Amino acid sequence: MISVMFVCLGNICRSPMAEFVFKDMVCRRGLEGCFHIASAATSMEEVGNPVHRGTREKLRQYGISTEGKRAEVLERTDYDRYDYLLGMESRNLMNMKRILGGDPENKIYRLLDFSDRPRDIADPWYTGNFDVTYEDIREGCEAFLQWLENHGRI
Ligand code: 4NP
Repeated sequence: MISVMFVCLGNICRSPMAEFVFKDMVCRRGLEGCFHIASAATSMEEVGNPVHRGTREKLRQYGISTEGKRAEVLERTDYDRYDYLLGMESRNLMNMKRILGGDPENKIYRLLDFSDRPRDIADPWYTGNFDVTYEDIREGCEAFLQWLENHGRI
């Protein structure tokens, strides 16, 4: 079983989008039994709130539901509970390392560092553009899954 935690600032826009896109992707490949997938925030700002409407509506276009998801905050104990902790942008990684107490086992990555074009995923909470976020997240999730395959993890 591979445990994957997606992380962003608020856990209402990007990291829940990554959580449910990646869940859908592994299901389509019949790999759902191989993964435990979750998402969390580095800030307390949105804790308990449902997924942002922009993310919900974008995912609905692809038949993906985020039903039941509420924003939660990343905790120090998550470092032991997860194999991969994937942030959306460089600033997330800085905050993740602060919360998790560093990264002695090299489990923390930026999602698009798995792609051919490493970069941050812009925050749609500020940009309002959930289309670009979706394309970036899909690219990152596909690249991560490919990386796991290439490294014999699945
Ligand atoms: P997210 O977007 O990190 O992609 O979930 C944000 C959501 C809420 C806030 C910032 C970013 N906020 O400041 O409340």
